[in-house]
Amino acid sequence: MTHHRSAWRNRWTFMLATAGSAIGLGNIWKLPYMIGVNGGSAFVLVFIGCIFFVGIPLMMTEILLGRRAQKNPLNGIETLAIEANASRHWKYLGGMGMITGLLILSFYSVIGGWVLSFIGAAASGNFVGMDGTQSTANFNQLLASPLTLLFWHTVFMIMTMGVVARGVNSGLEKANNILIPALFAILLILLGYSMSVGDMSASFRFMFSPDFSKITPVAVLSALGHAFFSLSLGMGSVMVYGSYLQRDVSIARATIYIALADTLLGLLIGLAIYALVFANQLAPNAGPGLIFQTLPIAFGQMPSGSLIATLFFTLVAFAAWTSAISLVEPTIAWVVENTEISRKVATTILGLIIWLIGISVVFSFNEWQNVTIIFGLNIFDTLDKLTSTILLPLGGLLIAIFAGYFMKNSHVQEELNLHQWSFKVWVLMNNVIAPIGIIGVFLYLFKIIQ
Ligand code: PHE
Repeated sequence: MTHHRSAWRNRWTFMLATAGSAIGLGNIWKLPYMIGVNGGSAFVLVFIGCIFFVGIPLMMTEILLGRRAQKNPLNGIETLAIEANASRHWKYLGGMGMITGLLILSFYSVIGGWVLSFIGAAASGNFVGMDGTQSTANFNQLLASPLTLLFWHTVFMIMTMGVVARGVNSGLEKANNILIPALFAILLILLGYSMSVGDMSASFRFMFSPDFSKITPVAVLSALGHAFFSLSLGMGSVMVYGSYLQRDVSIARATIYIALADTLLGLLIGLAIYALVFANQLAPNAGPGLIFQTLPIAFGQMPSGSLIATLFFTLVAFAAWTSAISLVEPTIAWVVENTEISRKVATTILGLIIWLIGISVVFSFNEWQNVTIIFGLNIFDTLDKLTSTILLPLGGLLIAIFAGYFMKNSHVQEELNLHQWSFKVWVLMNNVIAPIGIIGVFLYLFKIIQ
C-alpha cells in the first residue's frame, strides 16, 4: 500500500515539534518536585549527567532510525531489520513503544486536566490570601471529585485528539509553531517576576550547590527514568517525528538544541518555582502537589498573583498539550499507514480507548484510592512507575542495541553524517555507556524489588 507521507516544512518546525514533545509536565510538574523530594542539587547533577550521557545519544539514535525508515515505528523498525538482515521480530519494539505512549497519555491527560482546572481557578482569583490549610483543602477537593476530574480529562483528550486528527502539517506543526514560542514568552515573564519578588539566591543554592552525600541509588534510578521521560525517549515519539524529517538536517545539531532547550527550561522553571516557594517559607518537598498545592499559596500572597498564576498554568497547559500530541502520533501513523481507516476515524477510536483507561486513573485519586495493582501502588502510580522506570528505559536500551549492534555502521553514519571522531563518541555512548547505565539501573531495581 502506498500512502502519501507528510513531512515537516523545514528544520525549525521539526525542532519546535520535538521540543514541544520533550517539554511537558515532566519539566514543569515532575522535575521540580523530584528535585525537592530527592534532596535538591545532588539530584540535579545526576539528572544532567543522564541527559548528557544517555539522553542525547539515544535521541540521536531515535531520530536517525525514524528518518532512515520513513515509516511509523513498527513498520520502520521492521524495514530497518530487513535491511540489516536481522530478525523481523524487532518490529515488536515499535509496538511496545506505541502501547507505552497510550499508557502514558491515559494518566498524562488526567494531570493535564488538573492544570486546565487550575487556569480557571487562578483567573477567578481563588488563590488570593490562601493559607496552607486552604490550599491543601482546595487541591484535595479537586482530587476527591471524580466528575470534575473526568470533565477536565475529557476536555484535555478532545484538545489533544483535535490536533492529531488534523494531521502533521495543519495539526501538529501549526499547534507547535504557536504554542512553543508562546510558552517561552510566558517563561520569560515568570522568570522576571520570580526574580523580582522571589528568593532567587535561596532557590539557586537549593538547586545548584551539590551535596554528594544525597546521591542515593534511588535518586539515580529516578533521574535516569526521568531523563527518558523528559526527552520523550524510548517509545517512538521522537522516531516518528524523525520520520517526517528531511534528509539535509544535521541530527546531532538538532538533538543538542532540543535537549538543551528541554533541560534548561526544566531548570529555569524549577528556579522560578523554588524562588517563590522559599520567599514564602514553604516546604520544597511537597511531592506531586508542589505546583498545585504549594505554589498557589505563594501566588496568593504576591502582587499580581492571580495574573501570574493564570499565566503559569497556561504555560503548563501548553507544554502538556504539545507533549500529549506526540504520545499518540506513533500509533496513529501506524494505523494510517497500514489500513484504509482515515486519520480522523483512527484518532477518534484511539482517543476513546485512552479516555476509558484514563477513567480508571481518575478513580485512583478517590473511589479506588485503595485499589492496588503491583507493589502496593494504586492505578496512577502503577502506570507512572511502570512506564517511566521500566518501559521507557527498556525501549531505549533495545533501540540502542538495535542501532549499535544490528544495523550496519555505514548506514547509521549515512544518517548521522558526523566527523570521524564524533561518530566514535556517539558509538561509545550508544553502544557502551547508555546500555551499561540502563542495565545497571535495572539490576539495582531487581535487587530492591526482591
Ligand atoms: N516529555 C514529556 C514531558 O516531559 C512526556 C513524554 C514522554 C512525551 C514520552 C512523549 C513521550 O512531559
